[in-house]
Amino acid sequence: MKELNSEQFKAVVNALRSTTIVLSVWLFSLILFFGYLLSNPLKKEKKEPEVASPGTTKPAEPKNTPNFWHAPDKANLEGDPDKDQILYGEDLIAHTSLYFGPIGKVKAKSTNGMNCQNCHLDAGTRVFGNNYAAVAATYPKYRARSGSKENIHKRVNDCFERSLNGKALDTNSKEMQAITAYIKWLGRDVEKGKKPEGSGFKDIALLDRAADPVQGKILYEEKCTVCHQKSGEGQLTPDKSTYVYPPLWGKYSYNVGAGLYRISNLAKYIRYNMPLGATHESPQMSDEEAWDIAAYINSMNRPKIDISKDWSKIAEKPFDHPFGPFVDPFNEEQHKFGPYKLIIEEKKKKENAEISITPRA
Ligand code: HEC
Ligand code: HEC
Repeated sequence: MKELNSEQFKAVVNALRSTTIVLSVWLFSLILFFGYLLSNPLKKEKKEPEVASPGTTKPAEPKNTPNFWHAPDKANLEGDPDKDQILYGEDLIAHTSLYFGPIGKVKAKSTNGMNCQNCHLDAGTRVFGNNYAAVAATYPKYRARSGSKENIHKRVNDCFERSLNGKALDTNSKEMQAITAYIKWLGRDVEKGKKPEGSGFKDIALLDRAADPVQGKILYEEKCTVCHQKSGEGQLTPDKSTYVYPPLWGKYSYNVGAGLYRISNLAKYIRYNMPLGATHESPQMSDEEAWDIAAYINSMNRPKIDISKDWSKIAEKPFDHPFGPFVDPFNEEQHKFGPYKLIIEEKKKKENAEISITPRA
């Protein structure tokens, strides 16, 4: 090999040095470029808002803290003589319309086509999803709406007649017996008289103002129409046997005597359970949003029933029962939409007064 003189050697070194610099700059740019590609949100597929589909997807495995009630394990039903009846009851709650809906196989068209589960989520087992945790332990009980002591059959039929705007079941029917067996089984570990943590609805803060249906309409159209439709009529399956998305108002919705027609109940349901996928642990609505949307939904048309015999003791009407007469000076509008704080104060005053005028034994 030919010897390099010092000039030639310098030149080679210089050439090598500049090549290295050029290569490093290249490499560095490449790294930057790939890094950019990986992190660039535009390169990722446009992500649809996460939408769970009914029935199939449950919201992320309920992280039931040990304090919250949970349903008994179905595996324990093996060998139970009531197993079939209990599972039939569960199916009736989850797929009510397949039995009593538009083409139901037990008694078609005897309800509006909704499922009990539409409002009592996960067949009445979801924490704060209007579950049945407290029913077995607290019924029979006095209920002010009917002014009488009610057993589970009566309470179930109330929802058939009001929430499902349909016909009551015969108490001795196989279906009523199965529904009751299922509800009792769900609550079998609950101490008599107790309401376990997580049962029914989670409470929601009262507003200082009236709930606003105008604001509610705007929110509804932003967050709820994808599924429940702008018309509020929901969406049936193609064979019309059941709802994919149940109706919120209109001919096939719950009637004015139903529990959800009280705005506080509807707001609590929405606050911790809607849009689909929301739970009490990962709610998507604020208190205000829930109240306003509830005000909008319950301003729309829905079936009427005769409720003149409800709340025979007028003083026992709940603060947000929207139909007079009332024992306080507030009108129907304020009872329906609020603000409720003065109504509730007045109610407490009256109750205390009543207690103090009751003669002592
Ligand atoms: C449109 C919604 C809706 C539907 C559908 C519905 N319910 Fe209800 N149900 C409610 C609401 C709201 C309450 C609570 C009312 C209250 O607390 O004032 C309730 C309460 C109950 C209770 C009493 C719970 C307790 O802890 O006291 C039972 C039992 C019940 N429903 C059974 C049923 C059955 C069975 C069906 C199906 C045949 C059904 N519900 C369908 C909304 C509904
Ligand atoms: C991704 C679809 C989806 C969206 C969005 C959605 N819901 Fe629902 N909603 C459902 C389904 C499905 C059910 C029935 C749940 C079941 O049966 O498990 C339901 C049930 C209900 C119910 C009780 C049943 C009834 O029909 O009366 C109410 C009330 C309700 N939704 C209100 C709302 C409100 C208010 C919003 C907007 C904040 C909303 N939903 C957004 C799918 C949706």
